[in-house]
Amino acid sequence: MYQFIKVDVDAVIEAAEALFVPRNNEAEAFYELRLEFNQAVTSVRKSALFIYLNRHCFNGLCRYNASGGFNVPFGKYSGPTCPSAEIRGFSEFAQRCEFHHQSFEETFAMAEEGDVIYCDPPYIPLSATSNFTSYAKDGFGPEMQLLLARLARDAASNGNPSFVSNHHTPWALEIYAGARIETFDVQRLISSKAATRGMAPELLAIYGA
Ligand SMILES: C[S@@+](CC[C@H](N)C(=O)[O-])C[C@H]1O[C@@H](n2cnc3c(N)ncnc32)[C@H](O)[C@@H]1O
Repeated sequence: MYQFIKVDVDAVIEAAEALFVPRNNEAEAFYELRLEFNQAVTSVRKSALFIYLNRHCFNGLCRYNASGGFNVPFGKYSGPTCPSAEIRGFSEFAQRCEFHHQSFEETFAMAEEGDVIYCDPPYIPLSATSNFTSYAKDGFGPEMQLLLARLARDAASNGNPSFVSNHHTPWALEIYAGARIETFDVQRLISSKAATRGMAPELLAIYGA
């Protein structure tokens, strides 16, 4: 979707806007379009469907099942609108960007002299009740968090200042020992429970800057 917005923003907006009609804001239409998205090849249409799903699904979640199918249920919102102006703004910004879909190890290996690296990995669970199981499915368990922290530290010692954001937890402080830690609260936009949608403590681990 990012690639199509970068190279052909008018086509994406036109295709997306056509999906934001009252008859598509019904459960039946939603599940048909979700199925179409899951079967579609990479295209302008698939990009538009992703924008439609993001604005019509439950809490704007982005979640896939083990076979790679988008599986967030219908959100039942009144009158969702297509964020056309934001998409256009993103497209202008994207002209200065390159998008790569690859593992973070490959991305670290691309770093050149003078590059600064920022990582926004899947979160370390905030509480003991939300354990790593849900992350394990996506292959982002504790080993991956540790590997990322190590690569960030090594990149800094090779001259690439590196930043990693994550939840502020005792284990996070442990794995980022050696980094400078900045702590702040962020507004949680995505959570099914209003109580946990408030402020959550986050940290930025700073290596080499
Ligand atoms: C907290 S989200 C980052 C969201 C992103 N900053 C944004 O604004 O869209 C974590 C991201 O890490 C990605 N991810 C998961 N495993 C990864 C891996 N092994 N290598 C690189 N990225 C990975 C997920 O797909 C997800 O998009």
